[in-house]
Amino acid sequence: MPPPILLRPWREGDQTALKRHANNRKIADNLRDVFPHPYTYADADWYIRQISGQEGHLNFAIEIAGEAGGGIGAVRLTDVYQASAEIGYWLGEVYWGQGITTEALRQTVPLVFAHWPGVERIFAGVFARNAASKRVLEKAGFTLEGVLRRAIIKNGTVDDVHQVAIWRDSYSG
Ligand SMILES: CC(C)(COP(=O)(O)OP(=O)(O)OC[C@H]1O[C@@H](n2cnc3c(N)ncnc32)[C@H](O)[C@@H]1OP(=O)(O)O)[C@@H](O)C(=O)NCCC(=O)NCCS
Repeated sequence: MPPPILLRPWREGDQTALKRHANNRKIADNLRDVFPHPYTYADADWYIRQISGQEGHLNFAIEIAGEAGGGIGAVRLTDVYQASAEIGYWLGEVYWGQGITTEALRQTVPLVFAHWPGVERIFAGVFARNAASKRVLEKAGFTLEGVLRRAIIKNGTVDDVHQVAIWRDSYSG
């Protein structure tokens, strides 16, 4: 059983915990380059200021034992792809291996479907070498849609992306 978690909006005052947990190369290496390394207090401050009420975005801090220990969020695509939302997440290393992200993902999926009634599919793109994240998605009910071969370049290395998804009409809730 993972420890109790609370998904809640990011708020003023989260900067210190956000900086402390996010400032980790093992996290940044598995995310888009927009997630910086090193991760400074100014990065945390910028994130918290720009994130609130962003159109087309739904973002939560993962609160553990009273502090923001990670983040999970979705962005709705546009135009004909507005039936899809992309989900992403990270967790502070001190909390890894306790089932926390799996639990956060299980809680976030119904929140995304409820927030956007027109979203039919939630997907994620995982760098091929990120075994832990692929396992988290599998445990939360996502299935492999396909492998995007040589789709990204991270830290100068080209890699495949495993694209996984879950659908409104078939997820078990
Ligand atoms: C990926 C990440 C979110 C996992 O968070 P977590 O809370 O530790 O995940 P959980 O505890 O819910 O589950 C992790 C699972 O991966 C497994 N796992 C961990 N490392 C693994 C590895 N190297 N190879 C295979 N499986 C691995 C664990 O055993 C566990 O599966 P199990 O329950 O079957 O034993 C966290 O490591 C992280 O923030 N990583 C950096 C950012 C990132 O990768 N974000 C996702 C981008 S798509």
